[in-house]
Amino acid sequence: TAVDQYTNAHLLAPSRNKYHEALEFAHSNSLVRGLPDIAVFPGQGKLLSMQIQITGAKNILEVGTLGGYSAIWMAAGAGEDGKVTTVEVNPDTKNVAEENIAHAGLSDRITVLLGPGIEVLPALLKEVEAGKRPPFDFVFIDADKENNLAYFECALRMTKPRSCIFVDNVVRRGRLVDEAAAKDDPRIAGTRRLIEAVGQDDRVDAVVIQTVADKNYDGFLMALVK
Ligand code: DHB
Ligand code: MG
Repeated sequence: TAVDQYTNAHLLAPSRNKYHEALEFAHSNSLVRGLPDIAVFPGQGKLLSMQIQITGAKNILEVGTLGGYSAIWMAAGAGEDGKVTTVEVNPDTKNVAEENIAHAGLSDRITVLLGPGIEVLPALLKEVEAGKRPPFDFVFIDADKENNLAYFECALRMTKPRSCIFVDNVVRRGRLVDEAAAKDDPRIAGTRRLIEAVGQDDRVDAVVIQTVADKNYDGFLMALVK
């Protein structure tokens, strides 16, 4: 926590982030409106934003909007000609996200689609395959972990070489490698299926980076589409 506080004080200074106030609002308003406090941390949001800048991604897909906090970071990284399409299963949550996105002035760059990812992603895939929608160049999967592999499969088929796919929460305090958890917790089982399938998939190169932040110990999977 002290390291986060020290490094964030120097590297995530509010005065140097155009969206600082909007991000703070998205976080606090989401809590006021009853959403769980499980959005990415500021440093993780900035990592996503910078990854988008490095790769020049402009057409971003997110699964799992929650309050729109990560979508705001990603839209900021993509810049004025970027677009974020984000999928949220809960209508009340979508309303909160849209409020936060409007507060950030990003309603024209972030679109929240309502529905379960397991239905919305195949529909998006059909549109991409029919040429009715351009492929995505960056995907952030952060929804129901049971369906991680299905989301990843869809993401792969909606992206082109050199696109990047990130998956959140793949470590979960080390429970990823806890055999009992792998049996009893469908979220862990879903993530293990993802990691094991990705390792056999010649269409991507991937790595898991473990993270510590505040009291949390977790990690991202990052995949590069070949
Ligand atoms: C949970 C989900 C998340 O996406 C996250 O970042 C942390 C926790 C959860 O379902 O518990
Ligand atoms: Mg998450």
